[in-house]
Amino acid sequence: MPVITNIEDLRRIYERRTPRMFYDYAESGSWTEQTFRENTSDFRHIRLKQRVAVDMSGRSTRTTMIGEDVAMPVALAPVGLTGMQCADGEIKAARAAEAFGVPFTLSTMSICSIEDVAAHTKNPFWFQVYTLKDDDFMRRLFERAHAANCSAIVITVDLQLLGQRHRDLKNGLSAPPKLTVKSIANMMTKVPWGLEMLGTKRRFFGNIVGHAKGVTDPSSLSTWTAEAFDPALDWKRIAQFKEWWGGKVIIKGIMEPEDARRAAEIGADAIIVSNHGGRQLDGAVSSIRMLPAILDAVGDKVEVHLDSGIRSGQDVLKAVALGAKGTYIGRAFTYGLGAMGEKGVTKALEIIHKELDVTMGLCGETDVNRLGAHNLYVPQGFGDPTVLL
Ligand code: GLV
Repeated sequence: MPVITNIEDLRRIYERRTPRMFYDYAESGSWTEQTFRENTSDFRHIRLKQRVAVDMSGRSTRTTMIGEDVAMPVALAPVGLTGMQCADGEIKAARAAEAFGVPFTLSTMSICSIEDVAAHTKNPFWFQVYTLKDDDFMRRLFERAHAANCSAIVITVDLQLLGQRHRDLKNGLSAPPKLTVKSIANMMTKVPWGLEMLGTKRRFFGNIVGHAKGVTDPSSLSTWTAEAFDPALDWKRIAQFKEWWGGKVIIKGIMEPEDARRAAEIGADAIIVSNHGGRQLDGAVSSIRMLPAILDAVGDKVEVHLDSGIRSGQDVLKAVALGAKGTYIGRAFTYGLGAMGEKGVTKALEIIHKELDVTMGLCGETDVNRLGAHNLYVPQGFGDPTVLL
């Protein structure tokens, strides 16, 4: 058993265990992948202030996100096809999150359905919705999320069109995987993955197959998004979804102060500063660099969260010290899941928690809620994307 000390260790095991098609799906950004790379590298421009000889005992990472108690300000992000990274992946990830005390967000594009995840967990989880043209489908989706006792929906607003990830096209990404010479040859080298997958019936998009009408190939994410998603989405429509749902709403995919103001105006409970992990608009600014401007615009009106680029507890601390009330990990938990199933997700959470806890202590802080700009050295112009770092 290898000694696993960081998220990168989990990524390496995940890469070995998982069919190329699904590894590439998680590990891609769109087009040149500039935004995908900068989401992580921009965190390194922020440095931490080391403090000594202050009482570092009795530390706590506990806080709240949209009023819910969390063991640390980290939620599991919605990730499509999670049940292809590992058999029954969404159920395993949700159970690990529940046991750890952090929110789990189920993607509309999950393999395990909302009902299935609800049947295998005790606590309410969050449900991510895409903005589709089909009113009936949307209304039914909200009803299903209510019936499953979801405590919030996360509306993704940055995927009216799907960004092109070259490797998905080259690999012929689908769920379940289409059997071609190339995919079979690769899957034959992933025996434990394959055996587990043969042992489950959950191999299709569980929220879509049997629920969505008029989709010509329900196994293909790109076909489904092109046929069903609403390219004409506007704020009126988003407000309508909020009304139909009637509960807590988090709006995901905000990168500009102007859009943040619109989200606050319609009464969102939180917004997520996110460029979709660099998977949509390649050339967009990293989310950590946009965080200060968004906080300036709406920080006093709505809870501001951040995703895209978090791979460590130090990253969490930097985002929170800048002012984010919460963060999300997508790839970081996917690595753990693909590497070791439910235990791997727990491992990813433990790693990030330990890094956050120790970093906080070495910065001279004992309470995650007291982190602030005083803990950081932020280069001049960091929050201004027109300044080259
Ligand atoms: C879906 O949300 C994706 O980024 O593939």
